[in-house]
Amino acid sequence: MNKERKLIIAGNWKMNKTVAEALDLVRSLKLELANVKEVDMVVCPPFTALEAVSKAILDSSLRLGAQNMSEQNFGAFTGEIAAGMLKEFSVRYVILGHSERRQYQKESNELISKKGLAAHGASLKPIICVGETLAEREGGQTEKVLESQVRGSLAGFSKEQMAETVVAYEPVWAIGTGKTATTAQAQETHAFIRGQLVKMFDETVARKVRIQYGGSVKPSNARELMSQPDVDGALVGGASLEARSFSDIIKNSI
Ligand code: PGA
Repeated sequence: MNKERKLIIAGNWKMNKTVAEALDLVRSLKLELANVKEVDMVVCPPFTALEAVSKAILDSSLRLGAQNMSEQNFGAFTGEIAAGMLKEFSVRYVILGHSERRQYQKESNELISKKGLAAHGASLKPIICVGETLAEREGGQTEKVLESQVRGSLAGFSKEQMAETVVAYEPVWAIGTGKTATTAQAQETHAFIRGQLVKMFDETVARKVRIQYGGSVKPSNARELMSQPDVDGALVGGASLEARSFSDIIKNSI
């Protein structure tokens, strides 16, 4: 597939996989994906499996991501993990502002932008998630919601930082539901988000930013989604928990 930007496909394992299970999965992924060079491939295990997975993927082209981090660099923040701690395990990416964290941990756009800036401060690339709920889409609020999430979650980023940031568009109604946005909905929404980036930064920066689609991505719909000009990859939940389905998503996207 001929794309303006290199595809980036990341597996968000969420709160799944013990260390032993994580190692099983990455060993299979390494075999399945040994020859893939065309796509940036990222696995995002839970914190407890980062060290083991980090070692296991050293001799592969898989890259490591975390699922969250603190906006603080160190100190009395019980239960939190700082960017510098992730760097110890060669983590390159960090998912921030996932809709599950926005919903269950009440993360705000303001907090997400602070986390993003802290990630950049440690040379971690943030994957900033945005997306509307079903009620918001049905109420014709999609663009308004996305505009405020994009503006708020990326507030204070420099142009250089933005060019090193990944945005994940994940309609909340498509996450884990089996419902996927149509390719037309995905393309239209990604183009809208890129338009916001032009306004906030500039055309050159906006053209560099990779915008992933997320929400029930599977081997059967990956190719069509990735064929859209503004869809630059995928953030995959459920289908990233098995080597076969995650590697088929990647192979079908090439
Ligand atoms: P899903 O999750 O692929 O299971 O829908 C996507 C996500 O939450 O990142």
